[in-house]
Amino acid sequence: MIRSALMNVMTTAAIKAGRGLKRDLGEVENLQVSVKGPGDFVTAADRRAEKTLFEELSRARPGYSFLMEESGAVEGSDKTHTWHIDPLDGTANFLHGIPIFAVSVALEREGQIVAGVVYNPATDDMYVAEKGQGAFFNNRRMRVAARRTLAESMVACGIPPLAGVAHHARFQTELAAAMAKIGNIRRLGAAAIDLAMVASGRCDGYWERGIKPWDIAAGIILVREAGGFVTDLSGGADMLSKSEICAGNEAIQRQLLDVLRKA
Ligand code: IPD
Repeated sequence: MIRSALMNVMTTAAIKAGRGLKRDLGEVENLQVSVKGPGDFVTAADRRAEKTLFEELSRARPGYSFLMEESGAVEGSDKTHTWHIDPLDGTANFLHGIPIFAVSVALEREGQIVAGVVYNPATDDMYVAEKGQGAFFNNRRMRVAARRTLAESMVACGIPPLAGVAHHARFQTELAAAMAKIGNIRRLGAAAIDLAMVASGRCDGYWERGIKPWDIAAGIILVREAGGFVTDLSGGADMLSKSEICAGNEAIQRQLLDVLRKA
């Protein structure tokens, strides 16, 4: 468990935003059967959660900058600190009433992600990490899995949606190559949860292209502090700027990267 003032600020904000989302999920379930569907309601829920996070974090750490999924960049007086916020990662799941989504909050200090929180309000699962302090799932230390071969692994991925058609052909080639080597592949539908699964050792690896910085910023530090490895798809450290990611324990991340590069 991490007892720092920063972690307290981040988890308090995530729980507060999550409380609203959990309540809204009930309404989303009712709206499935309406003609109009829950689209506008979900957009409003997403914005409300982001507003809560913005207000809570601004109050606790005045002047820090923000990079948010819905409202974009907000420059603060303190340019050395930026919050990366996805108030509702897994929006499509939420829209369909599937309880796999998360509030994702990360803090970047002088170009480095130094803390991350991923909170699923539907299950009340809290994943946290702070640089040099380790990673924790509901107050228990997390470690990445020890599996060494792709054949015995469970690997998560992101499937580009209809709107991400530019990535379809590449993904199909990668998936075919991955299916030929990996024991089981999953598409959970929330990048922050995918990375939390790797950090907690339930999944052995994860890759995705066309992913936004706020989707993965918090998850990256979870995996690293749990002893795992995270790179872009060329093996470099530009996940946030290149919008691509490959994560896993040391052995699996290396092998997965190799399969994807050769695809
Ligand atoms: C999405 C989820 C999804 C991933 C997409 C993301 P959002 O985030 O993380 O798993 O495949 O690339 O955009 O839109 O639900 O915050």
